[in-house]
Amino acid sequence: MDKHHFSPPFNFTKWIEEHAHLLKPPVGNQQIWQGSDFMVTVVGGPNQRTDFHDDPVEEFFYQFKGNAYLNIWDHGRYERIDLREGDIYLMAPHVIHSPQRPEPGSLCLVIERARPAGQHDALLWVCARCGDLIKRYEMQLQSIVNDLPPVYEQFYATTPEERRCNQCGEIHPGRDWQTWHKTLNEFHPA
Ligand SMILES: [Fe+2]
Repeated sequence: MDKHHFSPPFNFTKWIEEHAHLLKPPVGNQQIWQGSDFMVTVVGGPNQRTDFHDDPVEEFFYQFKGNAYLNIWDHGRYERIDLREGDIYLMAPHVIHSPQRPEPGSLCLVIERARPAGQHDALLWVCARCGDLIKRYEMQLQSIVNDLPPVYEQFYATTPEERRCNQCGEIHPGRDWQTWHKTLNEFHPA
């Protein structure tokens, strides 16, 4: 293939079959092409989490197998956006979102642009009880695969006291998404 192409065309269904072992825990996602302006990834379930993502560019979702949803945090208020099988969704920049993929075997195509220099991503953790911000980490994102895990680890390494909400005193449970979601459902029922 010449320099004008990232790869020859190939069959997407076959690609999914060949990467099925990576589209479930512990990896859970795979980027199709490297070095492209479109960061095209396939994300599989199960995967549930406590982090929220502030993306400076748009994100396109095609939930082509199974169901998932996005928790949305908007200045302390929570919303939920369902991604049902077959749904497509284009999310505006800076919609602070936390994808939840409870179903094993669910698959979503996600397309984001490479970030222009100076446009920063952020990962946030917020209080499930009152909606206040607990921690926010900003970065110039270059690789979805490499740049985010160290930030997760940095937050998970904080002490419970460092995760205490300034507003209501609740301690954020870190990576324990079951506890975080239970509190969210208790105080902010869908
Ligand atoms: Fe709080």
